[in-house]
Amino acid sequence: VRTRVAVIGAGPAGLLLSHLLGRHGIESVVIDSRSREEIETTIRAGILEQGTVEVLDRTGASDRVLTAGQKHEGIELRFDGEGHRIDFAETVGRAVWLYPQHEVLKDLVAARLAAGQDLRFQVTAERVEDAGTDRPRVVARDSEGGPIEIEAEVVVGADGSRGVAREAVTGARGGHFREYPFAWFGILCEAPPSAEELIYSNSPDGFALISQRGPGVQRMYFQCDPRTDPEAYTEERLWEILQARVPGTTLKEGPVFQRDVLRFRSFVAHDTRRGRVVLVGDAAHTVPPTGAKGMNLAVADVVLLTDALRALLLDRDGSPLDAFPEAARRRVWKAQHFSWWMTNMLHLRPEADDFDRMRQIGELRTVVESEAGRAYLAEAYTGWPLPRTA
Ligand code: DHB
Repeated sequence: VRTRVAVIGAGPAGLLLSHLLGRHGIESVVIDSRSREEIETTIRAGILEQGTVEVLDRTGASDRVLTAGQKHEGIELRFDGEGHRIDFAETVGRAVWLYPQHEVLKDLVAARLAAGQDLRFQVTAERVEDAGTDRPRVVARDSEGGPIEIEAEVVVGADGSRGVAREAVTGARGGHFREYPFAWFGILCEAPPSAEELIYSNSPDGFALISQRGPGVQRMYFQCDPRTDPEAYTEERLWEILQARVPGTTLKEGPVFQRDVLRFRSFVAHDTRRGRVVLVGDAAHTVPPTGAKGMNLAVADVVLLTDALRALLLDRDGSPLDAFPEAARRRVWKAQHFSWWMTNMLHLRPEADDFDRMRQIGELRTVVESEAGRAYLAEAYTGWPLPRTA
């Protein structure tokens, strides 16, 4: 197979990149080891920054995000038994949208297929070759084990933190890495919403996040030990834990139909480009989920990379691609900091003593009682501006 841009990974980054390139007449092939059904049903993140929504809407990537998504103009920070609203509309005049990642993926897959683009499921990339040449290749296998080679002018690794593209770019150099001594226990349940907006709660028993999916389905998380077995708790116990972590609120309970444990890590690859091979999204960086930044960072990478690839492939100008890693890295480290800050402010470390807990309450009060504090949180949560070029 020959194409202009070979994209490994049909997640938000890979599919959106292919969509944006297609709008500029740049052909691409997207492969993913998973089936279409798996991609469209796996429960992942839920919050889209305003800039992400604007890109999806303006470029025709999703016509449902504004109608099926829910606009949220604030969140609640809960600590010391009380809730404090951070009003995004008032502080920064921006908002976020609750629209699950797998819905974004359904829209993007439909848009790709409607445009007649080459999108191949259950094709597993094994390695990337000839990164240093202007004809890099993806060596892959289809679901029957048959070999496939995709030769392109550029290969983009959008294959997540466990993909093969990262190795081709970073080699043994790896990246900056941070692990956290906790994870999130996530549930989906059939119940009405317990609150109109998300609740991020710091409690003496640890963190909880009360999110939503729709009128009859809710998503909630609580901090747990990373070694927790998702089946270890009865439903009754799950509700006891969640209730205890949002003191002052009464959760609306209902049958739990999905449970998972999410690991927490921060990672930033030292290199995100080698010759004609580029990394975007989780292949290049991972953030802990507390700031809801993962999918939004992937979108920001792709917006920047689209401009760089347009210059390279349409105008034969390689300088924007040379500048891409540093431009992407600036936003990545801001998002790393925000995600790390939200995580550390809200979670209970296993070794925390009373001093640590009271200091966190002091930090939370500093944020909610200060206009500048609320504005910093609101600005970062709703997302820094994106170039409007892609
Ligand atoms: C959701 C996930 C997040 O990581 C977050 O910060 C907010 C919401 C969610 O799945 O709804």
